[in-house]
Amino acid sequence: MEKPIKITETILRDAQQSLIATRMSTEEMLPIIDTMDKVGYHAVECWGGATFDACLRFLKEDPWERLRKFRDGFKNTKLQMLFRGQNILGYRPYADDVVEYFVQKSAANGIDIIRIFDCLNDLRNLQTAVTAANKEKAHAQVALSFTLGDAYTLDYWKKIAKRIEDMGADSICIKDMAGLLVPYKASELVTALKETVDLPIELHTHYTSGVASMTYLKAVEAGVDIIDTAISPFAMGTSQPATEVMVETFKGTPYDTGLNQTLLAQIADYFRPIRDKALESGLLNPKNMGVDIQTLLYQVPGGMLSNLTSQLKEQGAEDKFYEVLKEVPRVRKDLGEPPLVTPSSQIVGTQSVFNVLMGERYKMATKETKDILRGKYGATVKPMNEEVKKKVIGEEEPITCRPADLLEPELDKLKEDVATWSEQDEDVLSYALFPQVATDFFKYRAAQKDGIDPELGDKANGTYPV
Ligand code: CO
Repeated sequence: MEKPIKITETILRDAQQSLIATRMSTEEMLPIIDTMDKVGYHAVECWGGATFDACLRFLKEDPWERLRKFRDGFKNTKLQMLFRGQNILGYRPYADDVVEYFVQKSAANGIDIIRIFDCLNDLRNLQTAVTAANKEKAHAQVALSFTLGDAYTLDYWKKIAKRIEDMGADSICIKDMAGLLVPYKASELVTALKETVDLPIELHTHYTSGVASMTYLKAVEAGVDIIDTAISPFAMGTSQPATEVMVETFKGTPYDTGLNQTLLAQIADYFRPIRDKALESGLLNPKNMGVDIQTLLYQVPGGMLSNLTSQLKEQGAEDKFYEVLKEVPRVRKDLGEPPLVTPSSQIVGTQSVFNVLMGERYKMATKETKDILRGKYGATVKPMNEEVKKKVIGEEEPITCRPADLLEPELDKLKEDVATWSEQDEDVLSYALFPQVATDFFKYRAAQKDGIDPELGDKANGTYPV
């Protein structure tokens, strides 16, 4: 039986997020879009995740403008984004009205497939986004944040998959952020999910631990429908398996993707100098390119790994890298053994850095650590460490309801706050996610428009201080 495997290309989002800290600019991407559009990918993942933050914060770009340019260029290819459930693209839970408006605007600006996940796999945090995507006629894909641990049995994954099907999702993604899914386990997991649900199953993994392409092979044989790959110059390491390699692997088999290697070679040729430049500038750290089998022990996803490297570099404490890596699973256990994916990966990662650098565990706790202990991110599969809870939040009673039920609608207030700078409907959403960073960007944008060098500001009368 013929069963062509579908390919989602990640170069514009996850690949560059995992390898070069999401610093690829729109200008660097646009010239190749026309060629990419001819390939016949199932989808191109190009937006969401950390790209939104990076656009505003580091690249001084409007993420919405980027999306519209993608939409203009990709005439035949579906555009996919990564969406953090109730946390949207930010790091805290938002009220339902903001989540709904964000989904609506994402679809209106060109997104076809919204991949929605929750860092705790608490499905209550996904329902609003899924329902909103249904309403906008966007494809709602729910991603299971894959992880290992006592609670995460085959039975756990089957039950949760069934519930995802019931909640109105159009497909399911197994989202293996850290490359923890080894080949034969992938075979078991895909088989189990295929027996449980009728939805298409997509597999997303990272090469961090070196097994990813074998994992794809076994998953495909077990019936997975779609795999996520990255064009070779930005493949492997903390990124995805190489697109060309997977295409060649299945050529002439019932799983033949049908993708054209000549086109893929042109795309690879385009991105190779960008990779070389990133290596030269140090943006691409060779540490993140090889096989790091330690990640199987520490279960650290690619994006988190490169974040930890740069956090420690900033502190001049690079020598503490492996010490911090060892602290990560301990902190994770304290916090109820959640999967490690944004924002839980940042929460666990930053707390681990604090614990190591301060020389005493939880001597200082971040606001986010406190909030996760307070139940503000949702329910964890395992109970949290009571002693740690006591040290960090004292006698405070954690919440057990869906966290967003406690949040008042916030959109109107946000609109008022941003009115001075707003130039388009979408600006309120940028502001909602990153108030300070977005405001700085709005000022920068206004200065540019008025012909003032945004780097300098208008010193004469003090306007546009950026
Ligand atoms: Co990923």
